[in-house]
Amino acid sequence: MNSTPRILVVDDELGPREALRMILRDDYDVVTASNGSQALDYLDNSEFDLAILDIRMPDINGIELLEKVKKKAPETEVVMITAYASVDTATNALRNGALDYLIKPFEISAVKEVVEKGLARRTSSAAIKNRLSELQVTNESLRYEIERAYNNIQKHYMETVRSLVAAIDAKDSYTKGHQERVAMFSTLLGEALNLPRGELDLLQQAAILHDIGKIGIPEQILRKTTKLTVEEFEIIKQHPAIGAEIISPVEFLNDAVPIVLHHHEKYDGTGYPEGISSEQIPLGARIIAVADAIDAMLSDRPYARAKSLSQVREELRVCSGTHFDPELAEIALKIDLPSRRFR
Ligand SMILES: [Fe+2]
Repeated sequence: MNSTPRILVVDDELGPREALRMILRDDYDVVTASNGSQALDYLDNSEFDLAILDIRMPDINGIELLEKVKKKAPETEVVMITAYASVDTATNALRNGALDYLIKPFEISAVKEVVEKGLARRTSSAAIKNRLSELQVTNESLRYEIERAYNNIQKHYMETVRSLVAAIDAKDSYTKGHQERVAMFSTLLGEALNLPRGELDLLQQAAILHDIGKIGIPEQILRKTTKLTVEEFEIIKQHPAIGAEIISPVEFLNDAVPIVLHHHEKYDGTGYPEGISSEQIPLGARIIAVADAIDAMLSDRPYARAKSLSQVREELRVCSGTHFDPELAEIALKIDLPSRRFR
């Protein structure tokens, strides 16, 4: 708002128009218009804090003009001018957003009072608007802070998970870095499937976490170099469910839970824990099953030497449709697998 408030007076009759100018000119910057069209031209080119509109005018009547002013400059306060006979119309104008009305002939004190009231409302509306936009800025920066804190929590959680994974690596008879390599092979498969970025991130998280449940399996079973007994294998089979239980309270890992739970399911339904088959198995779990097997085959383990690349590919072919999703086995046969053996 300017330091001197600007007032637009619109009346087709010279008498009342000039009377208002005389009453207000000492305190305000007053512009007068003799019809609605001229008033709208003024409003196009400059801002007014308050407009005083006569209701009865020949071209655009005051009620129509009020509507146009409120549309063009919603913050401009509007006061209507009426004769006694049309107080009802003026009351109607109030319902359409006018602040008040003045009755002809004007009383100087009434004019001054209504103008002061209008300008005070204009000032407080502007202050509220400013406060709102300040709050919006604060809100935006709080949202940013919360998002940053949330991302930090995620990052720290994943760091904790990685150290847990390292602890499992140390317990397990698998070679070090198994989970990271499963994540790498899973990502290669996911990229070959053209999965969107979000799905790839989820797949990577789930792959890192897939064996986290082994933390709950006795070390002597995990490190056993001879054939497992039926009872021992039953215990090993609990690790997907333990893993799913470990990560399920963590909200941002919710989507990884079914992938972790089902990473030992087989395409033909002979896997565990639930024995579900084909498309019932989440895609991420089917991908990790292939990636997990590839890494296991390429690694030296206490009970089996690492297979050559051609043996791995042969195994993928043989188990396509039984252990592995045939479409994924097909893709795995085409990706560039590392030729070096792990460990
Ligand atoms: Fe596993």
